[in-house]
Amino acid sequence: MVQIEELKQKVAALAEEGRARLKEVASPEDCEAARVAFLGRKGKITELVKFLPHLPPEERPEAGRLINSLKEQFQAELDRRLRELKAQEIEKKLQEEAVDVTLPGRPVALGGLHPSTQALREIYRIFLGMGFQVFESPEIETDEYNFQLLNIPPDHPARDMWSTFYLTEPGLLLRTHTSPGQIHVMRRFAPQPIRAILPGKCYRYEQVTARAEMMFHQVEGLAIGRNITMADLKGVLVEFAHQMFGEGRRFRFRASYFPFTEPSLEMDMDCIICGGRGCRVCKHTGWVEILGAGMVHPVVLRNGGYDPREFTGFAFGMGPERILMLKYNIDDIRLFFANDLRFLEQFSGGLR
Ligand code: DAH
Repeated sequence: MVQIEELKQKVAALAEEGRARLKEVASPEDCEAARVAFLGRKGKITELVKFLPHLPPEERPEAGRLINSLKEQFQAELDRRLRELKAQEIEKKLQEEAVDVTLPGRPVALGGLHPSTQALREIYRIFLGMGFQVFESPEIETDEYNFQLLNIPPDHPARDMWSTFYLTEPGLLLRTHTSPGQIHVMRRFAPQPIRAILPGKCYRYEQVTARAEMMFHQVEGLAIGRNITMADLKGVLVEFAHQMFGEGRRFRFRASYFPFTEPSLEMDMDCIICGGRGCRVCKHTGWVEILGAGMVHPVVLRNGGYDPREFTGFAFGMGPERILMLKYNIDDIRLFFANDLRFLEQFSGGLR
Protein backbone atom coordinates (compact mmCIF):
# COMPACT_ATOMS: atom_id res chain seq x y z
CA MET A 1 0.00 0.00 0.00
CA VAL A 2 1.37 3.44 -0.94
CA GLN A 3 0.79 6.16 1.51
CA ILE A 4 -0.71 9.47 0.51
CA GLU A 5 2.48 11.05 1.82
CA GLU A 6 4.40 9.44 -0.96
CA LEU A 7 1.97 10.80 -3.52
CA LYS A 8 2.26 14.26 -2.00
CA GLN A 9 6.00 14.14 -2.45
CA LYS A 10 5.59 13.06 -6.04
CA VAL A 11 3.14 15.88 -6.69
CA ALA A 12 5.50 18.42 -5.14
CA ALA A 13 8.41 17.09 -7.17
CA LEU A 14 6.43 17.18 -10.40
CA ALA A 15 5.20 20.69 -9.63
CA GLU A 16 8.82 21.72 -9.27
CA GLU A 17 9.88 19.89 -12.42
CA GLY A 18 6.96 21.40 -14.37
CA ARG A 19 7.84 24.93 -13.31
CA ALA A 20 11.48 24.38 -14.29
CA ARG A 21 10.46 22.99 -17.64
CA LEU A 22 8.13 25.91 -18.35
CA LYS A 23 10.85 28.36 -17.49
CA GLU A 24 12.89 27.01 -20.33
CA VAL A 25 10.27 27.03 -23.09
CA ALA A 26 11.20 29.52 -25.79
CA SER A 27 8.46 29.04 -28.38
CA PRO A 28 4.84 27.91 -28.78
CA GLU A 29 6.26 24.61 -30.11
CA ASP A 30 8.23 24.14 -26.87
CA CYS A 31 5.00 24.77 -24.94
CA GLU A 32 3.20 22.09 -26.86
CA ALA A 33 6.02 19.61 -26.22
CA ALA A 34 5.89 20.41 -22.48
CA ARG A 35 2.13 19.94 -22.45
CA VAL A 36 2.47 16.50 -24.03
CA ALA A 37 5.26 15.56 -21.59
CA PHE A 38 3.20 16.45 -18.52
CA LEU A 39 -0.47 16.36 -19.45
CA GLY A 40 -0.51 14.13 -22.55
CA ARG A 41 -2.02 10.67 -22.44
CA LYS A 42 1.26 9.29 -21.12
CA GLY A 43 2.37 12.52 -19.49
CA LYS A 44 4.08 12.60 -16.13
CA ILE A 45 1.15 14.18 -14.33
CA THR A 46 -1.45 12.03 -16.10
CA GLU A 47 0.38 8.94 -14.99
CA LEU A 48 -0.06 9.88 -11.33
CA VAL A 49 -3.57 8.37 -11.49
CA LYS A 50 -1.87 4.99 -11.48
CA PHE A 51 -1.24 5.59 -7.79
CA LEU A 52 -4.91 5.76 -6.94
CA PRO A 53 -5.70 2.02 -6.88
CA HIS A 54 -2.83 1.52 -4.47
CA LEU A 55 -4.20 3.94 -1.90
CA PRO A 56 -6.66 3.08 0.83
CA PRO A 57 -10.13 4.04 -0.49
CA GLU A 58 -10.66 6.84 2.07
CA GLU A 59 -7.56 8.62 0.87
CA ARG A 60 -8.39 8.45 -2.81
CA PRO A 61 -10.65 11.57 -3.00
CA GLU A 62 -7.93 13.73 -1.51
CA ALA A 63 -5.35 12.15 -3.79
CA GLY A 64 -7.62 12.86 -6.75
CA ARG A 65 -7.92 16.51 -5.71
CA LEU A 66 -4.14 16.79 -5.37
CA ILE A 67 -3.54 15.43 -8.83
CA ASN A 68 -6.26 17.62 -10.36
CA SER A 69 -4.98 20.78 -8.76
CA LEU A 70 -1.48 19.95 -10.03
CA LYS A 71 -2.93 19.54 -13.51
CA GLU A 72 -4.76 22.85 -13.30
CA GLN A 73 -1.73 24.60 -11.94
CA PHE A 74 0.48 23.27 -14.71
CA GLN A 75 -2.11 24.09 -17.37
CA ALA A 76 -2.50 27.63 -16.02
CA GLU A 77 1.24 28.18 -15.99
CA LEU A 78 1.51 26.78 -19.49
CA ASP A 79 -1.21 29.14 -20.77
CA ARG A 80 0.52 32.10 -19.17
CA ARG A 81 3.86 31.22 -20.81
CA LEU A 82 2.16 30.75 -24.16
CA ARG A 83 0.55 34.19 -23.95
CA GLU A 84 3.88 35.69 -22.95
CA LEU A 85 5.70 34.08 -25.87
CA LYS A 86 3.07 35.19 -28.35
CA ALA A 87 3.22 38.74 -27.07
CA GLN A 88 7.02 38.66 -27.40
CA GLU A 89 6.73 37.38 -30.94
CA ILE A 90 4.38 40.25 -31.90
CA GLU A 91 6.61 42.77 -30.21
CA LYS A 92 9.63 41.46 -32.09
CA LYS A 93 7.77 41.62 -35.42
CA LEU A 94 6.63 45.17 -34.76
CA GLN A 95 10.16 46.23 -34.05
CA GLU A 96 11.59 44.51 -37.10
CA GLU A 97 8.96 45.96 -39.39
CA ALA A 98 8.89 49.38 -37.81
CA VAL A 99 8.27 52.27 -40.25
CA ASP A 100 9.87 55.61 -39.63
CA VAL A 101 6.98 57.90 -40.38
CA THR A 102 9.21 60.94 -40.04
CA LEU A 103 11.25 60.04 -43.16
CA PRO A 104 10.47 62.21 -46.18
CA GLY A 105 8.27 60.39 -48.73
CA ARG A 106 9.52 59.15 -52.07
CA PRO A 107 8.50 61.59 -54.78
CA VAL A 108 5.77 60.31 -57.12
CA ALA A 109 6.66 60.81 -60.79
CA LEU A 110 3.90 62.93 -62.29
CA GLY A 111 2.93 62.59 -65.92
CA GLY A 112 2.39 65.57 -68.15
CA LEU A 113 0.50 66.36 -71.30
CA HIS A 114 2.26 65.59 -74.56
CA PRO A 115 3.63 68.77 -76.18
CA SER A 116 1.40 68.22 -79.24
CA THR A 117 -1.65 68.06 -76.97
CA GLN A 118 -0.54 71.25 -75.25
CA ALA A 119 -0.05 73.01 -78.59
CA LEU A 120 -3.48 71.81 -79.76
CA ARG A 121 -5.12 73.12 -76.60
CA GLU A 122 -3.39 76.47 -76.94
CA ILE A 123 -4.62 76.69 -80.55
CA TYR A 124 -8.18 75.80 -79.44
CA ARG A 125 -8.04 78.45 -76.74
CA ILE A 126 -7.03 81.17 -79.16
CA PHE A 127 -9.60 80.29 -81.83
CA LEU A 128 -12.41 79.67 -79.34
CA GLY A 129 -11.75 83.23 -78.21
CA MET A 130 -12.50 84.36 -81.76
CA GLY A 131 -15.78 82.46 -81.95
CA PHE A 132 -14.59 79.28 -83.65
CA GLN A 133 -15.87 75.87 -82.58
CA VAL A 134 -13.97 72.58 -82.64
CA PHE A 135 -15.24 70.01 -85.14
CA GLU A 136 -13.79 66.51 -85.44
CA SER A 137 -13.77 64.49 -88.62
CA PRO A 138 -12.57 60.96 -89.48
CA GLU A 139 -8.95 59.86 -89.91
CA ILE A 140 -9.99 57.16 -92.37
CA GLU A 141 -11.30 58.91 -95.43
CA THR A 142 -12.52 58.19 -98.91
CA ASP A 143 -10.59 59.30 -101.96
CA GLU A 144 -13.60 61.47 -102.71
CA TYR A 145 -13.36 63.49 -99.48
CA ASN A 146 -9.59 63.59 -99.19
CA PHE A 147 -9.11 64.66 -102.81
CA GLN A 148 -11.98 64.93 -105.28
CA LEU A 149 -14.36 67.15 -103.33
CA LEU A 150 -11.39 69.38 -102.55
CA ASN A 151 -10.95 70.02 -106.25
CA ILE A 152 -8.22 67.41 -106.72
CA PRO A 153 -9.47 65.01 -109.44
CA PRO A 154 -7.91 61.52 -109.82
CA ASP A 155 -5.12 62.44 -112.19
CA HIS A 156 -4.37 65.89 -110.85
CA PRO A 157 -0.62 66.46 -110.35
CA ALA A 158 -1.33 68.06 -106.95
CA ARG A 159 -1.87 64.51 -105.65
CA ASP A 160 1.90 64.16 -105.69
CA MET A 161 2.03 66.50 -102.67
CA TRP A 162 -0.17 64.14 -100.64
CA SER A 163 0.95 60.55 -100.98
CA THR A 164 -0.73 58.37 -98.38
CA PHE A 165 -1.48 54.90 -97.05
CA TYR A 166 -4.34 53.13 -98.81
CA LEU A 167 -6.50 50.61 -97.00
CA THR A 168 -7.05 47.18 -98.52
CA GLU A 169 -10.70 48.13 -98.90
CA PRO A 170 -10.88 50.02 -102.21
CA GLY A 171 -11.40 53.78 -102.08
CA LEU A 172 -10.38 54.14 -98.42
CA LEU A 173 -7.22 55.82 -97.22
CA LEU A 174 -5.66 57.53 -94.21
CA ARG A 175 -6.28 61.23 -94.63
CA THR A 176 -3.26 63.24 -95.72
CA HIS A 177 -4.57 66.48 -94.27
CA THR A 178 -7.47 67.73 -92.17
CA SER A 179 -8.93 69.53 -95.21
CA PRO A 180 -11.58 66.84 -95.96
CA GLY A 181 -13.13 67.94 -92.65
CA GLN A 182 -14.06 71.15 -94.49
CA ILE A 183 -16.51 69.17 -96.62
CA HIS A 184 -17.89 67.30 -93.59
CA VAL A 185 -18.50 70.45 -91.58
CA MET A 186 -20.01 72.33 -94.55
CA ARG A 187 -22.39 69.50 -95.41
CA ARG A 188 -23.39 69.33 -91.76
CA PHE A 189 -24.16 73.04 -91.39
CA ALA A 190 -25.00 74.40 -94.89
CA PRO A 191 -26.43 76.94 -95.49
CA GLN A 192 -25.57 78.45 -92.09
CA PRO A 193 -22.41 80.49 -91.58
CA ILE A 194 -19.49 78.49 -90.14
CA ARG A 195 -16.54 79.28 -87.95
CA ALA A 196 -14.78 76.02 -87.10
CA ILE A 197 -11.38 74.53 -86.46
CA LEU A 198 -10.79 70.88 -87.29
CA PRO A 199 -7.89 69.28 -85.43
CA GLY A 200 -6.49 65.77 -85.72
CA LYS A 201 -3.93 63.31 -86.99
CA CYS A 202 -2.82 63.10 -90.60
CA TYR A 203 -0.73 60.55 -92.43
CA ARG A 204 1.73 60.72 -95.30
CA TYR A 205 3.53 57.98 -97.15
CA GLU A 206 6.90 59.66 -97.13
CA GLN A 207 10.51 59.10 -96.28
CA VAL A 208 10.61 59.95 -92.57
CA THR A 209 13.17 62.70 -91.98
CA ALA A 210 13.83 65.47 -89.48
CA ARG A 211 11.27 67.56 -91.37
CA ALA A 212 8.67 64.92 -92.28
CA GLU A 213 6.91 62.30 -90.18
CA MET A 214 4.47 59.71 -91.47
CA MET A 215 2.00 60.78 -88.80
CA PHE A 216 1.53 64.27 -87.41
CA HIS A 217 -1.21 66.68 -86.37
CA GLN A 218 -2.92 69.45 -88.24
CA VAL A 219 -5.46 72.06 -87.33
CA GLU A 220 -7.67 73.13 -90.19
CA GLY A 221 -9.70 76.33 -89.97
CA LEU A 222 -12.78 77.26 -91.93
CA ALA A 223 -14.98 80.34 -91.95
CA ILE A 224 -17.95 80.60 -94.32
CA GLY A 225 -20.35 83.52 -94.52
CA ARG A 226 -21.87 86.17 -96.74
CA ASN A 227 -19.22 88.90 -96.67
CA ILE A 228 -16.03 87.16 -95.76
CA THR A 229 -12.93 88.60 -97.41
CA MET A 230 -9.20 88.15 -97.35
CA ALA A 231 -9.05 90.96 -94.80
CA ASP A 232 -10.89 88.66 -92.36
CA LEU A 233 -8.43 85.89 -93.11
CA LYS A 234 -5.47 88.16 -92.43
CA GLY A 235 -7.00 89.61 -89.28
CA VAL A 236 -7.78 86.20 -87.79
CA LEU A 237 -4.42 84.66 -88.64
CA VAL A 238 -2.33 87.60 -87.43
CA GLU A 239 -4.29 87.67 -84.18
CA PHE A 240 -3.70 83.94 -83.78
CA ALA A 241 0.02 84.23 -84.54
CA HIS A 242 0.51 87.14 -82.15
CA GLN A 243 -1.11 85.18 -79.34
CA MET A 244 0.85 82.05 -80.19
CA PHE A 245 4.29 83.57 -80.81
CA GLY A 246 4.19 86.95 -79.07
CA GLU A 247 3.13 90.49 -79.91
CA GLY A 248 6.53 91.51 -81.25
CA ARG A 249 6.55 89.19 -84.26
CA ARG A 250 6.17 90.27 -87.88
CA PHE A 251 4.28 88.38 -90.54
CA ARG A 252 3.95 88.36 -94.30
CA PHE A 253 1.57 86.68 -96.73
CA ARG A 254 3.05 85.12 -99.83
CA ALA A 255 1.15 83.89 -102.87
CA SER A 256 1.00 80.11 -103.14
CA TYR A 257 -1.06 77.33 -104.64
CA PHE A 258 -3.55 74.87 -103.17
CA PRO A 259 -6.25 73.23 -105.29
CA PHE A 260 -8.98 73.99 -102.71
CA THR A 261 -8.34 77.72 -102.33
CA GLU A 262 -8.25 80.63 -104.76
CA PRO A 263 -6.31 82.74 -104.21
CA SER A 264 -3.94 80.69 -102.03
CA LEU A 265 -1.22 81.94 -99.76
CA GLU A 266 1.34 80.96 -97.20
CA MET A 267 1.91 82.91 -94.02
CA ASP A 268 5.49 83.53 -92.92
CA MET A 269 6.86 84.85 -89.66
CA ASP A 270 10.19 86.57 -89.08
CA CYS A 271 12.64 83.89 -87.98
CA ILE A 272 12.66 83.55 -84.18
CA ILE A 273 16.22 82.21 -84.19
CA CYS A 274 17.96 85.05 -86.02
CA GLY A 275 15.33 87.76 -85.67
CA GLY A 276 15.12 88.05 -89.47
CA ARG A 277 18.82 88.55 -90.18
CA GLY A 278 19.11 85.13 -91.83
CA CYS A 279 20.33 81.79 -90.48
CA ARG A 280 20.35 78.08 -91.20
CA VAL A 281 16.81 77.57 -89.82
CA CYS A 282 15.24 80.16 -92.16
CA LYS A 283 17.59 79.17 -94.97
CA HIS A 284 19.00 82.71 -94.86
CA THR A 285 15.74 84.32 -95.93
CA GLY A 286 14.83 85.77 -92.52
CA TRP A 287 11.35 84.21 -92.80
CA VAL A 288 9.83 80.87 -91.81
CA GLU A 289 6.55 79.46 -93.11
CA ILE A 290 3.94 78.86 -90.41
CA LEU A 291 0.82 77.83 -92.34
CA GLY A 292 -1.08 77.60 -95.62
CA ALA A 293 -4.36 79.37 -96.28
CA GLY A 294 -6.60 80.94 -98.87
CA MET A 295 -10.12 81.86 -99.92
CA VAL A 296 -12.25 78.74 -100.26
CA HIS A 297 -12.43 77.70 -103.92
CA PRO A 298 -15.93 78.07 -105.45
CA VAL A 299 -15.90 74.39 -106.44
CA VAL A 300 -15.25 73.43 -102.81
CA LEU A 301 -18.00 75.75 -101.58
CA ARG A 302 -20.43 74.13 -103.99
CA ASN A 303 -19.31 70.62 -102.96
CA GLY A 304 -20.00 71.60 -99.38
CA GLY A 305 -23.53 72.78 -100.21
CA TYR A 306 -22.99 76.56 -100.41
CA ASP A 307 -23.81 78.74 -103.41
CA PRO A 308 -20.53 80.51 -104.31
CA ARG A 309 -22.47 83.49 -105.69
CA GLU A 310 -23.85 84.08 -102.21
CA PHE A 311 -21.15 82.76 -99.88
CA THR A 312 -17.44 83.22 -99.51
CA GLY A 313 -15.02 81.85 -96.97
CA PHE A 314 -11.45 81.38 -95.94
CA ALA A 315 -9.56 78.30 -94.86
CA PHE A 316 -6.19 77.56 -93.36
CA GLY A 317 -4.15 74.59 -92.28
CA MET A 318 -1.29 74.41 -89.80
CA GLY A 319 0.77 71.77 -88.01
CA PRO A 320 1.03 72.07 -84.22
CA GLU A 321 4.33 70.17 -84.22
CA ARG A 322 5.70 72.61 -86.76
CA ILE A 323 4.47 75.52 -84.64
CA LEU A 324 6.31 74.12 -81.60
CA MET A 325 9.44 73.49 -83.67
CA LEU A 326 9.48 77.14 -84.70
CA LYS A 327 8.66 78.39 -81.24
CA TYR A 328 11.28 76.32 -79.40
CA ASN A 329 13.88 75.80 -82.11
CA ILE A 330 13.31 72.03 -82.25
CA ASP A 331 15.14 70.70 -85.28
CA ASP A 332 13.63 67.22 -85.64
CA ILE A 333 9.90 66.43 -85.85
CA ARG A 334 10.61 62.77 -85.02
CA LEU A 335 11.31 63.79 -81.41
CA PHE A 336 7.58 64.27 -80.90
CA PHE A 337 6.75 60.63 -81.51
CA ALA A 338 9.88 58.83 -80.32
CA ASN A 339 8.64 58.69 -76.70
CA ASP A 340 11.94 59.86 -75.28
CA LEU A 341 11.15 61.22 -71.81
CA ARG A 342 14.18 63.52 -71.88
CA PHE A 343 12.44 65.40 -74.68
CA LEU A 344 8.85 65.11 -73.43
CA GLU A 345 9.63 66.11 -69.84
CA GLN A 346 10.86 69.50 -71.00
CA PHE A 347 7.22 70.31 -71.68
CA SER A 348 5.70 68.78 -68.55
CA GLY A 349 5.47 72.17 -66.88
CA GLY A 350 3.45 73.58 -69.79
CA LEU A 351 4.32 75.78 -72.78
CA ARG A 352 6.19 78.99 -72.02
N1 DAH B 1 -4.17 70.89 -96.54
C1 DAH B 1 -2.93 71.59 -96.74
C2 DAH B 1 -1.76 70.66 -96.51
O1 DAH B 1 -1.90 69.67 -95.86
C3 DAH B 1 -2.84 72.77 -95.80
C4 DAH B 1 -3.82 73.84 -96.14
C5 DAH B 1 -3.45 74.83 -96.99
C6 DAH B 1 -5.07 73.82 -95.65
C7 DAH B 1 -4.34 75.84 -97.36
C8 DAH B 1 -6.00 74.81 -95.98
C9 DAH B 1 -5.60 75.82 -96.83
O2 DAH B 1 -7.25 74.86 -95.51
O3 DAH B 1 -6.47 76.80 -97.14
O4 DAH B 1 -0.70 70.92 -96.98
